[in-house]
Amino acid sequence: MQNLSDKQLFRQQGLIGDQWKGALSGKTIDVIEPATQAVLGTVPDMGRDETRAAVAAAAKAYPAWRAKTNAERAALLEAWHGLMIAHLDDLARILTLEQGKPLEESKSEIRYGASFVKWFAEEARRIGSRTIPSPTADRRIVGLKEPVGVCAIITPCNFPNAMITRKVAPALAAGCTVVIKPSDFTPYSALALGVLAERAGIPAGVINILTGLPTEIGAEIMANETVRKISFTGSTRVGSLLMRGAADSVKRVSLELGGNAPFIVFDDADLELAVEGAIASKFRNGGQTCVCANRILVQAGVYDAFANKLVARVERMKVGPGLEPGVAIGPMINEAAISKINRHVADVLTEATTDMVLAHEETFGPVAPLFRFETDEEAIAIANATPFGLAAYFYTRDLKRSWQVAEAFEAGMVGLNAGMLSTEVAPFSGIKQSGLGREGAHVGIEEYLEMKTFHIGGLG
Ligand code: SIN
Repeated sequence: MQNLSDKQLFRQQGLIGDQWKGALSGKTIDVIEPATQAVLGTVPDMGRDETRAAVAAAAKAYPAWRAKTNAERAALLEAWHGLMIAHLDDLARILTLEQGKPLEESKSEIRYGASFVKWFAEEARRIGSRTIPSPTADRRIVGLKEPVGVCAIITPCNFPNAMITRKVAPALAAGCTVVIKPSDFTPYSALALGVLAERAGIPAGVINILTGLPTEIGAEIMANETVRKISFTGSTRVGSLLMRGAADSVKRVSLELGGNAPFIVFDDADLELAVEGAIASKFRNGGQTCVCANRILVQAGVYDAFANKLVARVERMKVGPGLEPGVAIGPMINEAAISKINRHVADVLTEATTDMVLAHEETFGPVAPLFRFETDEEAIAIANATPFGLAAYFYTRDLKRSWQVAEAFEAGMVGLNAGMLSTEVAPFSGIKQSGLGREGAHVGIEEYLEMKTFHIGGLG
């Protein structure tokens, strides 16, 4: 990979225990740069045997990692965070080359990803057991917080850095060890994080990284009884398969799945703010985010004004390769993404109706359909008419309407006059078919902790 200050960050091997390795079969898969379709490099095509080895390495590292004090684990996470910030430019370049997003957005993602490591380094110090009042005088009861064990972390191609750190940082802070399976489209950001984790002094086996196609690796992760938890970000279809597969050995699951976010602009909205919010929500990462506005609902009285302003703003956005200065929208990740977007565009652009494909499917691309509505009730009914419930946005200046709409939305995250909800300090979560569990914030670490109750008798 060209133009990295630290060439060691570009790794083309997986990480199992203390070894950077190829596949046992010797097979590799190509990683394609979305902007040029050139081959950026290869990674090992690992399968079941390598997955077993990675799980065994994570299990071997687990007792010593779990036995460290919370402050020791916090210090190692702090060191990892420091290296991510120190290597921000290289990490962002790797990310743009393999994922396509504009370089400035990649830098934001590296900061966002690093923020989870910092946050959970801090949270590690606050994991506390709790005393439970005993029903009898001769007993004491304590709820001990303990790590879940070996966790499998399966991540998508849209945020190749931050979706890993949002899961791995709380896992490590809690005392778990991990096996990461990044998207086969974007493995290099994950591998660079592995290099920096080693340099930070995180012991071998605490983080293992498998590269390759998902089928065999996923099958072993689901079947392997040593894996106690699966945390996945990706499609609802795959999330539901993993949940089914995890059932046999009763693994815990956290799932951050698809969305179909409504973005409602009411007649009394500040239209300039609403347009900026729509741009931020809809076009971040070229629309390839689970939380991006999928359906923009505009009240009849401001429909034309909002549409004109939005079009004028979108026309100023430069489309091109992510490394080119000033580019706001980079290439889509692959051909399949482009075909889906074309299918949605062929169906609609303005005056969208609820029977159109993009009213039901997540577009995952830079398409902004506008739906016209008349009443609040109608808008809420349209907004909630989806099996998904990740993010929802609305713009109004009316206090009563603000509360009514926020409470009526069926979504895990709601933005009022705000088009961006992503931050390490607030829970990131979906309801309905958008997922299970909470990531980030003070609650994210709980996904990687069990509570064991310890009853102490004979004290009377
Ligand atoms: C996602 O699209 O899955 C995550 C986006 C975010 O964290 O902001």
